[in-house]
Amino acid sequence: MSLLRLSPLLLATALAACDDAPRFTQAEPGEALSGGKATVLRADRNAYSLPSANLSAERRLDFAVGNSFFRNPWVIAPATTTARDGLGPLFNTNACQNCHVRDGRGHPPEPDASNAVSMLVRLSIPDQPAYAKEIERLGVVPEPVYGTQLQDMAIPGVAPEGKVRVTYQPETVTFADGHSVELRRPTLQITRLGYGAMHPDTRFSARVAPPMIGLGLLEAIPDAAILANADPDDRNGDGIRGRANQVWDDAQGKTVLGRFGWKAGQPNVNQQNVHAFAGDMGLTSTLQPKDDCTQAQTDCLAAPNGDGANGEKEVSDNILRLVTFYTRNLAVPARRDVNAPQVLAGKNLFFEAGCQACHTPQFTTTADAAEPELANQLIRPYSDLLLHDMGPGLADNRSEFAASGQDWRTPPLWGVGLSEAVSGHSQLLHDGRARNLLEAVLWHGGEAQRARDQVLTFNAEQRTALLAFLNSL
Ligand code: HEC
Ligand code: HEC
Repeated sequence: MSLLRLSPLLLATALAACDDAPRFTQAEPGEALSGGKATVLRADRNAYSLPSANLSAERRLDFAVGNSFFRNPWVIAPATTTARDGLGPLFNTNACQNCHVRDGRGHPPEPDASNAVSMLVRLSIPDQPAYAKEIERLGVVPEPVYGTQLQDMAIPGVAPEGKVRVTYQPETVTFADGHSVELRRPTLQITRLGYGAMHPDTRFSARVAPPMIGLGLLEAIPDAAILANADPDDRNGDGIRGRANQVWDDAQGKTVLGRFGWKAGQPNVNQQNVHAFAGDMGLTSTLQPKDDCTQAQTDCLAAPNGDGANGEKEVSDNILRLVTFYTRNLAVPARRDVNAPQVLAGKNLFFEAGCQACHTPQFTTTADAAEPELANQLIRPYSDLLLHDMGPGLADNRSEFAASGQDWRTPPLWGVGLSEAVSGHSQLLHDGRARNLLEAVLWHGGEAQRARDQVLTFNAEQRTALLAFLNSL
């Protein structure tokens, strides 16, 4: 019945999409090296923590020092360890690594957890003209008392902002062959508010820490190559649009292409790190010189800071440089089993379902990358770094710069097959609601609805093959 109602044009494109899908019978040359010459051969729990394979011994030292500032806890000021003091007044946790566990992925809080650790909650209120400057710079209007992020920890004498809990409702999805999968739909609860009621129209966005691999390579994809895949008006009629986020660059003082974060709200690795130091750990730097306290948070504003005697901020320019070098050079692990028949079958199904329309298989990085090791590399991130409307099911209903409440940036899939080995859990998607790869695919809606519906027609053998391909990434 519904098939008969499809316009002939739509039907023709749908069939053409299948016919056009390439049939891979063997691995492509160099296919296992997802991060080009920077790729590392490691497939265990430390697979996300190695430096780019092509870094010199001297540059590996900088990587190791950057790693120490990413891994080791920061302390409250004043302290004897002045290089690492200034934590808070408000913060989520005391080390980058607590969220990006083993440089991997965070997860939502367990039902009985006392804090959320590796998941944070972004806050804002609806856009209004009086806040044009905030909208231009932050992409949102901050909640008037709590700001743009809920910090569930604080130093002594300052109240934490609140506690985060997540509960789930089950819902069942059934495949054409009768196989069914239970998904869990999250509901966020914020309790024990430290500064009174929030604005009645507050928007909440729960996000787990994404994996840290290949970020310098993603940063080195030319803007033009990303924009070439954008199709905001769906001119090619494939139902997939793809838009670039347009975000504020603090250093340049202007709006540029967004690439990092679940909504591509940050333009580059360094600024993402600066905002992580400030927002997640309460640590100031030249680009974010003030602690994340709102005018209503007087104890927060009055707390001592860890600025150096020479006017240096809590995170010195040199520490920031080393952390940014580190976060650019966490290498992508090589793929496994690229030539296995089942993996190749899964790859063909990935293309048949149209996954590659957003999970773009490959790019070549620019010649003038920030780090020479990351220049001119053929990389296979399986992301277009663009925003897509993923439908109401995944929506956080919170816009961020040009990203709507239903938009998310396509996450890179490289390394996803090692996510469980590294992070110790298999949860996926922006809020960790998917408990495994298949659930993640079944949550796809909006522009990805057609791809997901295609997967629902797969039989058991095809499902296993698709998962074998994803697990080989
Ligand atoms: C409280 C948990 C938490 C802590 C602590 C934390 N992060 Fe993150 N990190 C996140 C979340 C959540 C995101 C996604 C943010 C978003 O979508 O807005 C993220 C994103 C990132 C990204 C972008 C990755 C991508 O794929 O787009 C980088 C880089 C990053 N963090 C670096 C750091 C650094 C450096 C530190 C320490 C200074 C740090 N993070 C501390 C949770 C955390
Ligand atoms: C319209 C664009 C689009 C298409 C088509 C698409 N995806 Fe996605 N995919 C996304 C976006 C955006 C997300 C992130 C959604 C979120 O976190 O809420 C995502 C997330 C994922 C994730 C979880 C990644 C992570 O880090 O959490 C997997 C796995 C995945 N997609 C696989 C697939 C497969 C397999 C297909 C084809 C059946 C597919 N996708 C088709 C855009 C797309």
